[in-house]
Amino acid sequence: MMWIALLLLGLAVLLLLYARRTRRRNEPPLDKGMIPWLGHALEFGKDAAKFLTRMKQKHGDIFTVRAAGQYITVLLDSNCYDAVLSDVDSLDQTGYAQVLMKRIFSLDLPNHNPESEKKRAEIHFQGRALTQLCNSMQNNLQHLVTPSEMGLKVSEWKKDGLFDFCYSFLFKTGYLTVFGGEKNNSVALAEIYEEFRRFDRLLPKLARTTINKEEKQIASSAREKLWKWLASSRLDRKSEHQSWLGNYVQQLQDEGVDAETQRRAMLLQLWVTQGNAGPTAFWVLGYLLTHPEALRAVREEIQGGKHLREEEGKKNTPVFDSVLSETLRLTAAALITREVKQDKKIRLSNGQEYHLRRGDRLCVFPFISPQMDPQIHQQPEMFQFDRFLNADGTEKKNFFKGEVKVKYPSVPWGTKDNLCPGRHFATSAIKELVFTILTRFDLELCDKNAKLPLVDPSRYGFGILQPAGDLEIRYRIRS
Ligand code: HEM
Repeated sequence: MMWIALLLLGLAVLLLLYARRTRRRNEPPLDKGMIPWLGHALEFGKDAAKFLTRMKQKHGDIFTVRAAGQYITVLLDSNCYDAVLSDVDSLDQTGYAQVLMKRIFSLDLPNHNPESEKKRAEIHFQGRALTQLCNSMQNNLQHLVTPSEMGLKVSEWKKDGLFDFCYSFLFKTGYLTVFGGEKNNSVALAEIYEEFRRFDRLLPKLARTTINKEEKQIASSAREKLWKWLASSRLDRKSEHQSWLGNYVQQLQDEGVDAETQRRAMLLQLWVTQGNAGPTAFWVLGYLLTHPEALRAVREEIQGGKHLREEEGKKNTPVFDSVLSETLRLTAAALITREVKQDKKIRLSNGQEYHLRRGDRLCVFPFISPQMDPQIHQQPEMFQFDRFLNADGTEKKNFFKGEVKVKYPSVPWGTKDNLCPGRHFATSAIKELVFTILTRFDLELCDKNAKLPLVDPSRYGFGILQPAGDLEIRYRIRS
C-alpha cells in the first residue's frame, strides 16, 4: 500500500510539474487546453482539420498545443516546410514511426530508417523499372476488367458503391503488380481485399489506441490472415530480388530480422503501397460524376487523344492532370510528424524566429496550408476541375499568397526530402483506372442528384481521406 501511495504521489508531482509549463521567450503561442494532461487530445483526434483550423485562426501559422501529455508544435507556414524539415539532426522521424508501426502493424523494426528506405525505393520506381512496373500494372488491370474476371455479362447492369468499386480494382491491380504471389485468382484476390479493408477501416483507431475489444479482435484476425497470405507471395524467388519488395526483404534479412518480423513488415508495405491510390480514384470519379462540366472536359480530352498512339495519348492529358491535382488538394491529408531531438530555432517565411523545445513534437499539416488556405486557393472547399490549368490549357504552376509566390500549391506526396517514391506509379495507376472506366464502361449515379459523401473526419492525418458514406453507382461493360 505504502509503495502504491508513494508511486501515486510521485506521479502527481510529475503531472503538476509538467502542467506548469509556460511559454518562454521566442517560443510559439502555447495552448494547453482546459483538461489537465489530456489537453486538446480529444478534439485533435476527433477531427484534426477542424481543430487545427480553429487553432490557426486563434494563433496564426505556428502554435504549440498539449495533447495527452505531449507538447506538439504545429507549423502551418507552407513556404518554410522544406527548410525546417531538412534539419534531420534536430528533427527525428524514426521514433514516432516506430510507435505507430508497433500500434498499427504490431511490428518492431528497430533499425528502420524511413529516410534511407525512401531513397532506396526511389530507384525502383523510376526509369526502366517504372516503365516495367507500369506495363505490368496495365496488363493486370486489363485482365481484371474482363467480363469473365468480373463475373458479369457484357451490357448487363450491376449496382455497387463507387468507393469499393474503385478501391477493389486498384488494390487488386497494385497487389498483383507489387506483390504477385500465389493468391492471385479472383476469389483469393477478393478475399485478400476484404481482409485488407477490415484492417484499413480500423487503422486510425489502432494508431490512436481508441480501439475497443471487439474491434481489436477483428483487426488482429485480419492482420493474422494477411501476414499468412503475404508470406506466400513470390518474394523468395531469385528473380524478384531485383524488385523493390524483393530488395526490401533482402535488406531485412541482411539486418538479421527474423522470419516472423519479415512477415509482419509485408503488411506495412501492403498498406503503404495500396492504401492511398484506391481512395484517390474514388474521389476523382466521384468529383467527375457530380461535376458534369469536368466529366465532359475529361471525356473530350480522351476522345481528342484517340488519334495518337496509345502511349502519346495517355501522356499529354493536362485536363485530367488538373482534375487529379485538384482532387489530391482536397483529399490528401497526411500529418508529417517529427520529434525535436535538441532545442532548435526555426525561421518562418516572414523572417520571424521561434524556438522549438527538445522533447516536443513538430507537426506539419499541408492539408490546411497550402491546400485549404483561402489566401492561396479561392473557395478552397470547392472542386474546380481547371484550378491547375492556365487559360491556354497548360499546367498552372504559379500560385500566390498575397504578393508572395507559394513554393507548392499542394503537398500530396510529402515534402522535398521525404517525397513518396511511388508517386509516378500511383499517378499512372489512377489514370489508367479512370480512363479504363470511362472508355470501357457505362457508369452512372443511381440517383442523378446524389452529392459526394462527406469525409470521415477520423482519417485526417492518415494519407488520402476516405468518405463517411458512399455514392451508389450502376455500371455495365460496354459491348
Ligand atoms: C495517391 C496515392 C499515394 C499518395 C498520396 C502517397 C503519399 C505518400 C506520402 C505522403 C508518403 C510519406 C512521405 C513522408 O514520410 O513524409 C509516402 C511514402 C511512401 N509511399 Fe506513397 N503515396 C501514394 C501511393 C503510393 C504507391 C502506389 C506506392 C508504391 C507502389 C507508394 C510507395 C511509397 C513508399 C515505399 C513510401 C515510403 C514509406 C516509408 O518507408 O516511410 N505510395 N507516400
